[in-house]
Amino acid sequence: MIAHKLAMKVRHAIPATVLIAATAPALADGDIAAGREAAHQCEVCHGLDGQSKIPEAPNLAGQTQAYLVKQLGDFKAGKRENEMMSVVVPALKPEDIDNLAAYYSAIEVKIGKVPGE
Ligand code: HEC
Repeated sequence: MIAHKLAMKVRHAIPATVLIAATAPALADGDIAAGREAAHQCEVCHGLDGQSKIPEAPNLAGQTQAYLVKQLGDFKAGKRENEMMSVVVPALKPEDIDNLAAYYSAIEVKIGKVPGE
């Protein structure tokens, strides 16, 4: 009963489109150690620590797992395109994507100074 009330509250608070996106793909767990191994292919641009090593590449450390899975899936499906990413993505299997997302999302990130605070 409580869960139902909570679900109703959430449904009112979140637009339907967001709710669909959030509930559609079940998030696989991913193997962090295997992800670290696979991350050697990403190291030159994103770092093994998830901190970008080239100006064009974003930091991946501490990024949410669902977001990483989504972006890698989009690159693989050709929905998102980037010259550099297209070199590595075709070889990634779905379990590699889950493992890489588990690894990069598990890197702890500490926030320092935030402008305006
Ligand atoms: C040769 C450099 C290079 C390599 C190697 C590389 N990437 Fe990237 N990656 C990039 C660049 C550049 C972007 C930014 C793409 C854009 O501007 O859309 C990117 C974007 C991403 C994004 C999207 C992040 C976001 O915040 O939207 C993810 C996730 C990602 N890379 C994961 C990986 C993984 C995992 C690997 C290894 C399997 C990898 N990349 C290997 C250069 C690289």
